Amino acid sequence: MTDLSCPTLPGALPDKRQVAASFSRAAASYDSVAALQRAVGLSLLGQVPAGWQPLRWLDLGSGTGHFSRILAERFAQSSGVAVDIAEGMLRHARNEQRGAHYHVAGDAERLPLRDASVDLVFTSLAVQWCDQFASVLAEALRVLRPGGVLAFSSLCVGTLDELRASWQAVDGLVHVNRFRRFEDYQRLCAASGFEQLELHRCAHVLHYPDVRSLTHELKALGAHNLNPGRPSGLTGRARMQGLLQAYEAFRQPAGLPATYQVVYGVLRKLQA
Ligand SMILES: C[S@@+](CC[C@H](N)C(=O)[O-])C[C@H]1O[C@@H](n2cnc3c(N)ncnc32)[C@H](O)[C@@H]1O
Repeated sequence: MTDLSCPTLPGALPDKRQVAASFSRAAASYDSVAALQRAVGLSLLGQVPAGWQPLRWLDLGSGTGHFSRILAERFAQSSGVAVDIAEGMLRHARNEQRGAHYHVAGDAERLPLRDASVDLVFTSLAVQWCDQFASVLAEALRVLRPGGVLAFSSLCVGTLDELRASWQAVDGLVHVNRFRRFEDYQRLCAASGFEQLELHRCAHVLHYPDVRSLTHELKALGAHNLNPGRPSGLTGRARMQGLLQAYEAFRQPAGLPATYQVVYGVLRKLQA
């Protein structure tokens, strides 16, 4: 039997209630700092097969609903569902006039949707929070109609490595979220039963004037470290100084780099 677990993800991902609470808290600040998320989602949208209209789309891990609004515009004749694990994000998205017709709280690993009920599952920068990517794939396969498309973006190993290495130099503790290897995405997609139209990774490097700008941004996104094993309590002055010093080793003319290794995948459910 093929092993669909992900042994290379070291340790468990954060508790889903913590993920939901963290993103709910970030709902009001998220859009003001989500430049990378915008760029990644737009790039993903550009990889959805052209000239094709889904009858019904699902924006999975829809956040503030930014891409639900873009999907509603692009597929004006279709109806849309937004699913997110964070109630606060759904509330924020519901307050917008345009976007998904339905907003449903739910988990990508256990979708609250009927079998064969959508034609497009669009999910941008959400499934890196799921422990079992194989379950996400199986659920997408279940809810898609034959011929339907799953378009996802996610993060893999290599993401925020500068921050990870700088903390490592200070105290060796887990300060940065863990990510699956790209090879695991390849293996799991190949075993998913989908036809693979696209699967690649692409590095996006952002620059910050200082470390605090980066860590504040991660917090405003709701994406700061929630891993089990993270240090508790406030970061002491001496350790913070150590971090700032260690990160300086990476400085480039444009500022302090933060690398995001983004995985893009477009998969199609085979016709019955
Ligand atoms: C970085 S935001 C991305 C939001 C939106 N897709 C975008 O690109 O702007 C990640 C979103 O995924 C949601 N999320 C995390 N884990 C999830 C899960 N297991 N099921 C559904 N949504 C999840 C979070 O609550 C958050 O709203």
